[in-house]
Amino acid sequence: MTMTSNLSRPVILDEARAIVRDLLAGQTAPLYYFLELESEEQVQRRAKPLPYLAAGTHLLELIDGKTIVEIGAMRIPMLHGIYEFAPSCCNDGHSTAIWAYTGLEVHSVDINPVCRDVASTLMESNPNLHCYTEDGIAFLDRFALQIDLLYLDAWDVHIGHDYAERHLAAYLAGYDKLAPTCIVQIDDTDIYFGGKGELVVPRLIRDGFELLITGRQTILIRVAA
Ligand SMILES: C[S@@+](CC[C@H](N)C(=O)[O-])C[C@H]1O[C@@H](n2cnc3c(N)ncnc32)[C@H](O)[C@@H]1O
Repeated sequence: MTMTSNLSRPVILDEARAIVRDLLAGQTAPLYYFLELESEEQVQRRAKPLPYLAAGTHLLELIDGKTIVEIGAMRIPMLHGIYEFAPSCCNDGHSTAIWAYTGLEVHSVDINPVCRDVASTLMESNPNLHCYTEDGIAFLDRFALQIDLLYLDAWDVHIGHDYAERHLAAYLAGYDKLAPTCIVQIDDTDIYFGGKGELVVPRLIRDGFELLITGRQTILIRVAA
């Protein structure tokens, strides 16, 4: 893969679209925009995060990314190979493990201290993975490094809760740390009026990000002019 420093903006965008098309063709349906999901639909029928996470790792390669920040960490251990799949275990995505295996610097924050325990073995074998127990917005407020990929997957989508507002607030807290060329990726955007992305995805588009795909996850890219 050619690194972005050698590529023009239109070429990077074309390559980004090709990565997403190759990995995600056929993965965007069904959408559950108007529904709260029954657990059977949630676990068995709904699209899963893995191919979107794979796309994120390829996009990081394309933009020569170094640093991933994840808000909402793995709460279920991944007790199988990275590309093995079991619906009941893989519905969340095991994102912390997928990001850790890129070898890039990964900063993963979760409000629940259990997540740090779940990731402890992973941290031992992947010193590039740093886990924190803290509120995601407070963490992004004080985070001092440049972010190449921001992954938003915290406050769960429950009708009447402020999950959409909080994901928007997390993006705004991290905004001035985002690299000029960067990726923002959001999980659970296929449910209830855009789920975790209901407010942040339109804001990202207004801020000049290009939408690469929307489905179970939404991935956007900004390429420096
Ligand atoms: C859907 S899970 C994340 C799944 C994970 N990304 C994966 O792929 O396995 C959502 C997580 O967000 C966390 N969360 C909820 N409120 C939070 C907050 N204020 N700050 C950070 N994380 C929060 C929950 O504790 C939960 O572990």
